Order: sequence, then structure tokens, then C-alpha cells
Amino acid sequence: MIAGKILAEMPQANPAVVMCASTFHDVGRINDGADLLHGFRGVPRVLAIMDLIRNPDYPEPVTGAWDVVKGKVANIVANHCFPGFGIGLDAQVVGDADKLDFVRMGPNKVDPSRLALDLSRELIPWVVELIKDYGG
Ligand SMILES: [Fe+2]
Repeated sequence: MIAGKILAEMPQANPAVVMCASTFHDVGRINDGADLLHGFRGVPRVLAIMDLIRNPDYPEPVTGAWDVVKGKVANIVANHCFPGFGIGLDAQVVGDADKLDFVRMGPNKVDPSRLALDLSRELIPWVVELIKDYGG
């Protein structure tokens, strides 16, 4: 939901890449601890999921585009745990949404200086209210 909110203000970002990467970036996690390799572990899983959700009725040019989307999602998923992650707008949106989600652990758990986009910093109060609405 947070990534979708950022996307609504960022028409330059690729919605398919951002939404798939945001949804599945932690699919390689085996626990909630520090685990720098969970992104790499998640790549085969996210690619398999994307094969399942691809619409086989898409015309060929769009199918080719889906393969490009898969490659971009795989790159984001693989690298999202490393310092310096966030090269490119799609990766920045995914990274900022992930960091904004830290509000679940307390309203002061988001470090604005770690967010890539000014818009993301502006959204911190919105995320705090969103989490309250969902019982956080
Ligand atoms: Fe992660």
C-alpha cells in the first residue's frame, strides 16, 4: 500500500516493477533477523511467482515487456538488502516503501535521512496514520 501511494505521485516509475518488487522483495527471508542474503535467496522464488501471475493472453510485445519487468524485479529483490541500494527510480520507490514500513515498530523508527525521495519524507505522517488505522 505504501509503494502504491508513492507510485501515485511518481508516474515515471514502472508500476509493474515497483508493485512486484515491493510485494515479493522479502520472499527469501527465513526469519526476521539480519540476513544480507535473503534478497539473493528470493530471486528464484520471485521469478517463479511472476511466471505464475503472468497473463498468458498478453500479446507478444507485452510478453517481452514482462520479461524485462522480471529482470528489473530480480535485480531489485537481489540487491535490496545492501547499503547503497536504490539506483534508479523503481528501486528508490521500493526501498523507501520498505523503510517507511518500519513505522510499524514505532512512529520514530523511520530515519528520514535514509529515504531517497523527498516525497517519501513528506509521506511519513500519512504512514503513521495508516499504521494506526490497521492497529499498529
Ligand atoms: Fe528485505
